Amino acid sequence: MSSLAGVAVRVLAARTLDAVMHRGRSLKAELASTLPQIADVRDRALLEAICFSALRQRARYDAALRTWLQKPPGPRDGELRALLFAGFAQIDVLQLPPHAALSATVEAARALGRAHQAGMVNAVLRRAQRESFPPVDPAALWPTWLRKQVVDDWAEHADAIFAASAQAAPLWLRVNRRLGTRENYLKRLAEAGIEAAPSLFLSDAVCVDTPVSVAALPGFSEGEVSVQDGAAQAVADALLLPPGAYLLDACAAPGGKAAHLLERDPSLRLLALDVDGRRLARVRETLTRVGVDAQTLAADAGDPSEWWDGHPFDAVLLDAPCSATGIVRRQPDVLLHRRPDDIAALIALQARLLDGAWETLKPGGVLVYATCSLLKAENEAQIAAFLARAPNAQADQLDTNFGRLSGAGRQRLPGEDGMDGFFYARIVKQV
Ligand SMILES: C[S@@+](CC[C@H](N)C(=O)[O-])C[C@H]1O[C@@H](n2cnc3c(N)ncnc32)[C@H](O)[C@@H]1O
Repeated sequence: MSSLAGVAVRVLAARTLDAVMHRGRSLKAELASTLPQIADVRDRALLEAICFSALRQRARYDAALRTWLQKPPGPRDGELRALLFAGFAQIDVLQLPPHAALSATVEAARALGRAHQAGMVNAVLRRAQRESFPPVDPAALWPTWLRKQVVDDWAEHADAIFAASAQAAPLWLRVNRRLGTRENYLKRLAEAGIEAAPSLFLSDAVCVDTPVSVAALPGFSEGEVSVQDGAAQAVADALLLPPGAYLLDACAAPGGKAAHLLERDPSLRLLALDVDGRRLARVRETLTRVGVDAQTLAADAGDPSEWWDGHPFDAVLLDAPCSATGIVRRQPDVLLHRRPDDIAALIALQARLLDGAWETLKPGGVLVYATCSLLKAENEAQIAAFLARAPNAQADQLDTNFGRLSGAGRQRLPGEDGMDGFFYARIVKQV
């Protein structure tokens, strides 16, 4: 007999996946509303693991349903399809004890008012336990137009990109160097039974192979450590700021990079800007947790005439809104929701943000442009166009720690060095 909580997790997994796969909802938004309905932290982790795994393996599970059923449930019977995907993920990726996975998922079919389909759910999941899933090219997860773009941009690396994007990401941590050393924190992780290794070239980064919940991390609520991919932590190294520098973080929310920069040097005077006032509240929460401070402002970085007092910044970080194609392994629903028009709109927005941010930078100052995209149109082509229209802008070389050369910047592809896909460019305003 399955526990009530176990059944409730499967019910919520089916509803969450249905909303994300069939009704255009974002996984993050859905989880934000479903997770608080679950009391136990392990059940919450299970719900997340089921949803992420099912979305990453969507193409294989689709193929299995088409192979195993004469009439596979389509998007119109979305909740049933989502429940089957949730069941597959428990068997295939999470490798839960077969009985637990099966009985709780079949019970969930009943709890969803689908008692008439419980037998079918049972039969399909039993088959998934007996047989292997049909092999599917991980590229099949990508919409055709986006897959073509990745192949056009990265030719011989495209297969590796698709494969890495279908893998679960490791847990990267950033040790707050204001509150302790990385060596000491690694010892505390070992004492807590959490295996982790320091990054070889990122001074604050620690990589945990088997992700744990933040509640299990020593000192998390005291701000001693934060969750942040290594590729995002590298952004602080691209800036190289002198003590006391006046810095604009033009797209700051939810505040990960601002917090990192201030942990490294609390003497920085940082203005954290974001157009989204609600997300800006998260910047304040992040900064408070790690024990640093910055001025925050809800404003459009692309229109300095609205908010800038004319006092030039020594440096600007433009961590621009982008397609998120470099972090599909962390946000697998990106592939369900992106449309070609979005990319064109993002490219126009990034160009506007570059021009606006540039205006506020002092001569001799440095602007770092970063995205978690792997599309050249948002990255090297965006920067080439900017360098062509801003005559006093000159690209500064970044070293190989930032990935391969890509025009005037550098690109790390997803999975390389265990990190997310990220683009970085460092541009100096000539005097
Ligand atoms: C990639 S996220 C930034 C992540 C952040 N730097 C961090 O490390 O936590 C991009 C942000 O740009 C913001 N944004 C979008 N358009 C903007 C605009 N016109 N002006 C300022 N911020 C904008 C979004 O609200 C979003 O929070």
